[in-house]
Amino acid sequence: MKNKLYFKLKNKKVQESAFNAIVKEQKHIGYYALPEQDINSILSYAKTISDTKEHIAVIGIGGSSLGAKAIYEFIKPTKTLKRKLYFFESTDPLNITTLLSKLDLEKTHFLVISKSGTTVETFSIYKYIFSLQNNPQSYTFITDPGSPLEKYAQDIDASILHLPDNVGGRFSVLSTVGLVPLALSGIDIQALLNGANTIKKSFFDAGYMKDTLLKKAVFYARHHGQYRINCIFAYSETLKYFCEWYVQLWGESLGKKQRHSAFNVGLTPIGLIGPKDQHSFLQLIMEGTRNKSVTFIKIEDFQDDIVIPDISLKHLESLDTLNNLPFSKLINMQCDSVIEALLEEDIPLDSITISKVNESNIGGLIYYYELLTSLVGELIDVNTYDQPGVEAGKIILKRKLDS
Ligand code: PA5
Repeated sequence: MKNKLYFKLKNKKVQESAFNAIVKEQKHIGYYALPEQDINSILSYAKTISDTKEHIAVIGIGGSSLGAKAIYEFIKPTKTLKRKLYFFESTDPLNITTLLSKLDLEKTHFLVISKSGTTVETFSIYKYIFSLQNNPQSYTFITDPGSPLEKYAQDIDASILHLPDNVGGRFSVLSTVGLVPLALSGIDIQALLNGANTIKKSFFDAGYMKDTLLKKAVFYARHHGQYRINCIFAYSETLKYFCEWYVQLWGESLGKKQRHSAFNVGLTPIGLIGPKDQHSFLQLIMEGTRNKSVTFIKIEDFQDDIVIPDISLKHLESLDTLNNLPFSKLINMQCDSVIEALLEEDIPLDSITISKVNESNIGGLIYYYELLTSLVGELIDVNTYDQPGVEAGKIILKRKLDS
């Protein structure tokens, strides 16, 4: 993975203190250690699920589903997978009914994933599905030790897997939460972790990623009053759900009251897909309020060589310059052109290039964004790992349900 920063920033002292804070934090925040975990127990568990189970359905929301979905949807177009994954993440009845219509319940294994084990969306959907398929052997529950969900699963004698200690929901994709569904679909989870580990080592062992991530994080933190909207502009449809994952990670981690003041701060994530959003959001970046930074993500080799045919269309001869051009080249030329245009407007930006669509690269990208989020959270003085702001709505819903 290459990351080119187009903005300059010199502040070694702030960078070093953020780095030291992260080194210290590693001791009690669980996600940092995930790239080096032993996955044998997950692989052994995956072997216990019969080949007659053709579909895997995840019932979970937020950090309990978005990461696995991002990786699955990234890899799916380039690899023949063993099983399809389905994600029940919404209380939208149309969505539940539509998803269920695609499944043969006898051929489906359900993964009910909830760290807290009490989430309304997850358990309303689970109750509905359990009313249609009440065989406990068709379910595996992934939750924190001691949660109400663990107790329930023990009572019905279903399989239970745990989250590792101190891994927050939105940082849990590289734990059982993401690895179990991904392993069942046939994705190479060791390669995923190896990719994450490469970024981890490069950061903590003072490699290329240390300097790059620190510069980028300090830039975001320094300018968070002005460049308060951070867009990812990914030039591949395969990264659509990665953008959703990023929006949750960035938004839920960085929109907070500061730890040492009463100020509300935050950085707003936006996920864009090129070239589609060139015909939409780009205008706002180019000429709208100067409050956005942009990170472009490019794929070097799409492993697909379809070419625009050598056909001349009457009255459309001006488009003949497209003839014989591979689509993979066109999409990257489009990305480079937008980068050039935005640089002329002095919009702060950087570009990340990944070599191809594979497990190692998405594992690296995920870990890169987790580290970046932790660094920025430290620098803007928030608790990156809590989410007190989502409680108020839950309390009001409870009141409504109780009345
Ligand atoms: O990041 C988080 O902590 C949240 O987004 C949770 O993942 C989400 O609320 C789901 O929670 P749970 O896994 O407890 O059902």
